[in-house]
Amino acid sequence: MVPGSLAGLLAVATLALARTPAGFQPASNVDLIVEYNGVTPLNGVVVPRNTTISRPRIGTLVRLTGTSYAVLMIDLDIPTNTPPATNTLLHWMQTGLTPATTATRINTASGTLNVFLLENSTNTAPIQAYFGPNPPARTPLSHRYTQILVETSDVDPEDITVLRTAAATIVGFNASAVLTTADLEGKVVAGNSFNVTNPGPVNDTAAGGGGGTASTTSGSPTSSPTGGGFTTGTGSGANATPSSAGAIQGSGGLLFGAVAAGAIFLGL
Ligand SMILES: *[C@@H]1O[C@H](CO)[C@@H](O)[C@H](O)[C@H]1NC(C)=O
Ligand SMILES: *[C@@H]1O[C@H](CO)[C@@H](O)[C@H](O)[C@H]1NC(C)=O
Ligand SMILES: *[C@@H]1O[C@H](CO)[C@@H](O)[C@H](O)[C@H]1NC(C)=O
Ligand SMILES: *[C@@H]1O[C@H](CO)[C@@H](O)[C@H](O)[C@H]1NC(C)=O
Ligand SMILES: *[C@@H]1O[C@H](CO)[C@@H](O)[C@H](O)[C@H]1NC(C)=O
Repeated sequence: MVPGSLAGLLAVATLALARTPAGFQPASNVDLIVEYNGVTPLNGVVVPRNTTISRPRIGTLVRLTGTSYAVLMIDLDIPTNTPPATNTLLHWMQTGLTPATTATRINTASGTLNVFLLENSTNTAPIQAYFGPNPPARTPLSHRYTQILVETSDVDPEDITVLRTAAATIVGFNASAVLTTADLEGKVVAGNSFNVTNPGPVNDTAAGGGGGTASTTSGSPTSSPTGGGFTTGTGSGANATPSSAGAIQGSGGLLFGAVAAGAIFLGL
């Protein structure tokens, strides 16, 4: 009995339910529970795109003691016009999250877990509003969507400005470089990743297009999908300088609109 339970405990202690993908920096193998309406795609599983359309709830199995956290979600596998080369795309950046004081029961493939949700109790507008995965029928068909939770308890306002500035360019977002610049290196406290896969077949002939109707304005990029209306749209939202809570919310909406349009444009 005892050795059996002990073995079970050890397995629970050492087997991460969620972690960042191999090779991703900054890495974490501390469980970040990510839940979409009862679906918890953890640790590299493939999840249908339609379950990931709306922003997930996130939480940790151990209650965090910091006062402020940020979540980032990055697609590590967006196609380029030189397949199989890929680029990255920032899908979500939300600061100002606080750990709930009581746990919420969440069903996962590993059973029901007690999760301390990260809550937006300060109603902080997202730096980059969540937009869901939408991998196009290009190389690679399957994309890794990686989430990291970063402690921001003691950051200077300038460091948040660094995040805001970096998030203005969602294509080619380099989490490691951005967090280092924002003095948040080593502040990643939990992570997760899941895949969403386009059923295919691959048609890389559409490279640069991402949609037949957009081909005339999007044909310019040669090595990364940063051209056309996509960059313009993102830039106009990001350049709006928020000066009050209301303005932040307003520009967030604008940015989301622009980014959503850009994402549809690129087919990501
Ligand atoms: C997602 O699509 C599948 C079929 O492709 C369907 O069975 C499922 O109900 C859908 N889920 C949601 C949340 O829309
Ligand atoms: C946090 O609150 C702001 C303002 O109400 C809202 O725009 C944002 O979507 C919320 N984010 C989360 C993760 O709840
Ligand atoms: C997830 O996507 C990556 C990048 O395309 C791929 O290498 C990996 O095999 C995918 N994982 C699964 C389980 O499909
Ligand atoms: C991201 O930035 C780090 C430096 O922080 C660098 O080592 C790495 O090569 C960069 N990754 C890419 C894909 O440019
Ligand atoms: C691939 O996409 C291009 C550009 O949209 C299109 O012209 C071509 O017919 C497609 N090929 C196939 C096999 O679907």
